[in-house]
Amino acid sequence: MGNFLSDKVVAVTGAGRGIGRAVALAAAAEGARLVVNDYGVGVDGADPASDVADAVAEEIRAAGGDAVAVADDISTMAGGQRVADTARSAYGRLDGVVCVAGILRERMLFNMTEEEWDPVLATHLKGTFTVFRAASALMRAQRSGTLIGFTSGNHQGSVSQANYSAAKGGVISLVRSAALGLHKYGVTANAVAPVARTRMSAGVPTELAGIGEPEDVAALVVYLLSDRAREAGVTGQVYTIAGPRIAVWAQPRELRAAYAEGAWTPERIADALPTTVGTDPMPLLEHVTAMERAAREGRRPNAQ
Ligand SMILES: NC(=O)c1ccc[n+]([C@@H]2O[C@H](COP(=O)([O-])OP(=O)(O)OC[C@H]3O[C@@H](n4cnc5c(N)ncnc54)[C@H](O)[C@@H]3O)[C@@H](O)[C@H]2O)c1
Repeated sequence: MGNFLSDKVVAVTGAGRGIGRAVALAAAAEGARLVVNDYGVGVDGADPASDVADAVAEEIRAAGGDAVAVADDISTMAGGQRVADTARSAYGRLDGVVCVAGILRERMLFNMTEEEWDPVLATHLKGTFTVFRAASALMRAQRSGTLIGFTSGNHQGSVSQANYSAAKGGVISLVRSAALGLHKYGVTANAVAPVARTRMSAGVPTELAGIGEPEDVAALVVYLLSDRAREAGVTGQVYTIAGPRIAVWAQPRELRAAYAEGAWTPERIADALPTTVGTDPMPLLEHVTAMERAAREGRRPNAQ
């Protein structure tokens, strides 16, 4: 065992499989005491099973670590609260939460139903809120803590996962709000956009360039949970990790502005906007165009 997280109490949602499981095992191996949450559902969020969280908690204990399982649905306020309450009742504090739980319900926007939209937003975005909400109240009182949300490169937009993309964009804004609102209490918040081989990525219809393993993602998360990241002032950031590659995303900012003489009218905007403020080309739109071309030519397209 290492000691990167010695004496820290860390809760991980979606810790029964894939990236969440790797994060929980890596955090425990670095000395953290764990709350292992997983609702034990299919990729689409159906058929919950409590043995999925139990199995990972047992794996941690068998390796000599401390872990408590919580099989609740974190898309409910009660589920998020239970994750934080379990940390407090089992270990007396909560130093880090990592919101990894996620599901997919893929459909083109023009065919998407409410049953495909709501659970995806509820799991990713509300499921990060419920845990951040309960954890941040404890961390504010402790005057320390780390919140980590899971986003995706798909927050830039998605052809057939508008629900997932909207949720992942929301996670980034939630993380930035947490970083701003909790800064004065010594609490940091960051987001991770992983690319890793799991059952979820196995369903992606294109070849993911530079895909890594869940353990690669876990190494970054352990760092973000550690005092080393806090001492380096890492907060409000979004990091991609894909195998050996780590990248930081830009903060959103205005590119160019133009000012009206008097008031703007649609006519004045039509005359001035294309040559002054202009547009910012959308990289994914170029990618989608290339994929459409490849499909027309019968080639297998490469993903971003
Ligand atoms: N794998 C990738 O390449 C990739 C890429 C981008 C983003 N992500 C994100 O990383 C996270 C982990 O993905 P993964 O690939 O490990 O998926 P996974 O399907 O292997 O694991 C997700 C886990 O979340 C659990 N879960 C789902 N709904 C839950 C709920 N309501 N409450 C508690 N647990 C719940 C599931 O039971 C499952 O064990 C997700 O947020 C996903 O969107 C993954």
